[in-house]
Formats: sequence, structure tokens, C-alpha cells
Amino acid sequence: MIMKYNEFVYLPSVFAVGNEYQIIIKFRKEAMVKIKIGDKVYCDHSNGVFRSSYPVHKISVPMSELDKYGKYTVSVVTLINRLAYCSECYEEESETFNFYPVPKDEIKICHLADVHGDFKSCMGAVKKIKGDIDLLVLNGDVVDHSGNVRNFNIIYKLCQAITKGEKPVVFSRGNHDLRGIYAEKLEDYIPTQNRKTYYTFRLGSLWGLVLDTGEDKVDSHEEYGNTVCCEYFREDEEEFIKSVIENKEYEEEGITRKIVICHNPFTYCIEPPFDIERPRFRRWTKLIGENIKPDCLLSGHLHTSGISEVGGELDNEGIQTFPVVVGSERTGNRGNVTFGLAYITLNKDGFNVEFVRNK
Ligand SMILES: [Fe+2]
Repeated sequence: MIMKYNEFVYLPSVFAVGNEYQIIIKFRKEAMVKIKIGDKVYCDHSNGVFRSSYPVHKISVPMSELDKYGKYTVSVVTLINRLAYCSECYEEESETFNFYPVPKDEIKICHLADVHGDFKSCMGAVKKIKGDIDLLVLNGDVVDHSGNVRNFNIIYKLCQAITKGEKPVVFSRGNHDLRGIYAEKLEDYIPTQNRKTYYTFRLGSLWGLVLDTGEDKVDSHEEYGNTVCCEYFREDEEEFIKSVIENKEYEEEGITRKIVICHNPFTYCIEPPFDIERPRFRRWTKLIGENIKPDCLLSGHLHTSGISEVGGELDNEGIQTFPVVVGSERTGNRGNVTFGLAYITLNKDGFNVEFVRNK
């Protein structure tokens, strides 16, 4: 349906966080937005006041409801003039989207990392995938940097092109996302849990832990000019990992596969100046390996593709107890980039990875 008074800049993106979907929608004009699933309505509001001036609308809905109904309706009331009394607006318009939760037995994942704002090269690889996509994973450095608010559009542009608002997406932040004057506002544009970029999610038989290592060099590095405090961030995150392990939600009934998603493959000690936080990352690896026992760590950052088994190429400190999948091939210059993604099939027997290139 074509809207008369407004239009979607990008179709809705349906992000999985915890046991809810956070649906992010960008409209051309200032508006009040609701989502209806079955008889229940969910609004984008601030303590009873519709949010109209935010650049994107973010609405949380229970996963169980959207999975059950398999569709959602976005309703929008476009503003003419927001006033203290008698605001003027157009009549309500709406559009309904189908939604397909991940299949029960086998889940096919399109994993993208290090897109760096390059939609064309990335989509060149996505189009080469032979098979369905049930879940999209955006694993960091999807934006080139946060120095311009328009750079965030690549997130919704990819979600639109790959999912059409009908499939779930998992988002994880990368180190480049922390750079630039809008980095502190990124949380308004992406899914978060309690405003944090690390969280867990459950999609059918799959349980996941999304981690965020922040910047890739020490906070005092001249490149950051005193603008980051990732050491404190990672300290808090470690407490979160411990709380996840204490709650053991990954042992819940029906979970057959467990993955950890993190832009930076923190199990691997990269050369200086990227060899930061080794004692902490060794602790994270041990905590996760001994307790969660994931099928794999999905990562990017290295601009390469491959699987490092236990004792493999990336296990240079001998600490891995689970395989590390790196799906972030990126070589060449603008206009002539070779981009590679990871196409992962998960089922009760394990997981299979295909690396797919645009060339
Ligand atoms: Fe990176």
C-alpha cells in the first residue's frame, strides 16, 4: 500500500533481543507510530507521550506474540503541527507485514561483518547465496564510522534488502561504530537491552549471546583523543557474562544450538597495538567455554574468512574450547572490493558454514 501522508524511508527492521523483538522504523515525516499484533497495540512513546521527533521509531513487542500471529501492522499518524493544545495531524494510515519466525529444525543465517557502508559489494555477495535466509546477523562495522548520522542508514538498508521487514535480525556493534560524533547516540538507532549493546536472545531452538568488545586499542590511544572508556564498559560486561552463567538461560528446554556473536574474535591475541585486555578476554573465553559451551563464536573484524578450530590458526594462546568462525572478507579498494559473507546452516546435528563472495 502506498501511504498518502507519509512514507517509509526504510521498511521496518525486526531485531531480536532477549525474548522480544525491537522493531525499528524510519519514516520520512514526523509522526506517531503504533504496531498492532492480534488485538494488542504497542506504541512508540515516552511515558504516555507519543514520540514524534526522534529520527527513528523503536517499538518492543513480545516475540511469542509476533511468532504466533505471523504478521504485524504498522499504523502511523503524520503530524502537521505539534502544539501544546490541539495539535494538527493527518488521519491514521497503516501497512501490514508478514513475519516468519526462524524455522524449528534448521536455521539458515546470513552473517555480515565489516560492510563499512559498502552496500553494493555486500549485496553482491548476498545475491550469490543459494538458499533461504531465515536470520540476518549484522556483526559489527556495518557502518564505516559514526561521524555522520546518515551512516546509520546502511543498517536499515541492509535489513530492508535482505529481510523486507519479515525476518528477524541480530545486531552486534563493531569498533568502528564507536568512532565519530554520533557514536554516543548510536543506542537510539540500534537494538539494545537496558541501553547496553551486549545481551542474549532466543530464536526457536537457537540461543545466542551478543558481546561487544568496544574499541580495539587501549582507551588512551591517540586515535581516540580521550573520547572512549571501553575498559569500564568491558568491566561491566564481564559482570553481565557472569550473570548470564548464573541464570543458565541457555539450558532452557528446546535449545539445541548456542552461539556467541562478537565483532572482535576476542579469543585471538592480535598483534600490537590490538593485543589489549588479554587477561580479561582469557577469562571471558574460559567462562564461556566451561559453562555455556557454545557451538561457535561468530565474528568478523579481521577482514578475512575462515574457521579456526580448537588449536587452529587463531588459537595462538591455546585457550579456545569452541570453534571461531570469521566471516568478514574484505579486500581491494572502493569500486573494486571483494566482499565475503558467511552463510551458516544450524540444525540438530551441528552447523555448516559456506563462505560466499561477491566475485
Ligand atoms: Fe572491526
